[in-house]
Amino acid sequence: MKVVVAGTGYVGLVTGVCLADKGHDVTCIDMNTKKIDTLKKGKSPIYEPNLEKLIVKNYKAGNLNYSSDYKKEYQYADIIIIAVGTPEKADGSANLDYVYEVAKQIAENLKKDCIIVIKSTVPIGTNDAIEKYIRENLKNDVNIEVVSNPEFLSQGTAVRDTMEASRIIVGVKSKKARDIMQKLYKKFDSPILFMDRKSSEMVKYASNDFLALKISYINDIANLCEVVGANIDDVTKGMGYDKRIGYEYLRPGCGYGGSCFPKDTKSLHYLATQGGYSLKSIEATIAINKRQKIILIEKAKKELKNFNNMKVAILGLAFKPGTDDLRDAPSIDNIEILLEEGADIKVYDPKAMDKFKQEYNYKVEYASTAKEALKDADVCFIFTEWDEIKNIKPNEYKELMKKPIVYDGRNIYNPNDMKRCRVKYYSIGRGK
Ligand SMILES: NC(=O)c1ccc[n+]([C@@H]2O[C@H](COP(=O)([O-])OP(=O)(O)OC[C@H]3O[C@@H](n4cnc5c(N)ncnc54)[C@H](O)[C@@H]3O)[C@@H](O)[C@H]2O)c1
Repeated sequence: MKVVVAGTGYVGLVTGVCLADKGHDVTCIDMNTKKIDTLKKGKSPIYEPNLEKLIVKNYKAGNLNYSSDYKKEYQYADIIIIAVGTPEKADGSANLDYVYEVAKQIAENLKKDCIIVIKSTVPIGTNDAIEKYIRENLKNDVNIEVVSNPEFLSQGTAVRDTMEASRIIVGVKSKKARDIMQKLYKKFDSPILFMDRKSSEMVKYASNDFLALKISYINDIANLCEVVGANIDDVTKGMGYDKRIGYEYLRPGCGYGGSCFPKDTKSLHYLATQGGYSLKSIEATIAINKRQKIILIEKAKKELKNFNNMKVAILGLAFKPGTDDLRDAPSIDNIEILLEEGADIKVYDPKAMDKFKQEYNYKVEYASTAKEALKDADVCFIFTEWDEIKNIKPNEYKELMKKPIVYDGRNIYNPNDMKRCRVKYYSIGRGK
């Protein structure tokens, strides 16, 4: 089976590489020729653990190729997987321009029957609409069917999540498409759940929005813990023992970010509103997260009043450890406020600094280690719990900083350890 993947981002590249590793003949397509050139040199354009190793292995083996020549590659594909971005529009809806662009390119070039798999996260009903669009625009007399196959990988563990997927959700209309999808995933030891396309599209949104809701819920409870003098560490421990609740995604912090939760909550909320339904749980999730992302600044302002000419160390830029992705990262919201208020900022992140330099033109200094960022700082903000940051000992804040004041958005430290080392330490939800 010739498999072509449209879009070599976090999802497309990982999917293509993992399918190649399972023995399929895969070509990854991207309009961004720089990405394709990087891949052809055996380098990964994104940071994801173990990805580069598999890129090199499968490229050498000859079952993984890269190209920007979509016209050639789409012609005789058996399966085309669409994995382009679906970012949010200003009104909160999903921008489907990239998906439609690929659909157009497929319709114009396809020369044989093909299954078109939509892996991008798309609003309910999009698979039906794309199938109709492609059929109406086909240049040649071929049969196509669109299959919904949403992706659940998590950045930072994307390769493992794909190789050992908790489930593979497939929304199909025909037995033929079902059989082809079964063949595609034959070597994956994961349950495959077949359903109709709309339900499949909804599984993706409902899953992401549930996880975002869980995060916002525990952040809400953490904030309340501060009001009433309870400790969120003990509260989550006590809750997590209950198997119906579990520990996963029950860690308080300075809000969720990334390329999925923020846009997928807004997109489902938009979809509900369009249908005349008020999705109150998700409305609350979004509102809580908006405040949570700048909760450290709120806390700091109570103590420090303003940041003018203050030397601020920022530890962690990525929206979570294990990735260089900065999309909707809490660090960005906070850096913008701090700069507006006249702070002198020095940032450090072990993986996301190059992207940060390319994507944001902020007037900040860059440190080559976390400890260098801390040197002579008046205050430190922690936004990402990278190991390198977690490994800084409490007394090192005292030794390196001019004034050891730390606002920790990921609850890395035990407040008692920090107190013992005479570091003024503020985290989330641990008492008044
Ligand atoms: N990132 C995640 O953790 C994750 C997880 C699950 C699902 N998703 C969903 O998967 C989709 C892709 O997300 P991503 O994070 O991989 O996006 P991304 O922005 O990292 O990658 C998208 C890629 O598509 C390319 N592209 C755009 N138009 C193209 C075209 N016409 N032909 C070929 N390539 C084209 C872009 O150049 C880019 O490299 C989104 O819908 C997202 O919501 C993402």
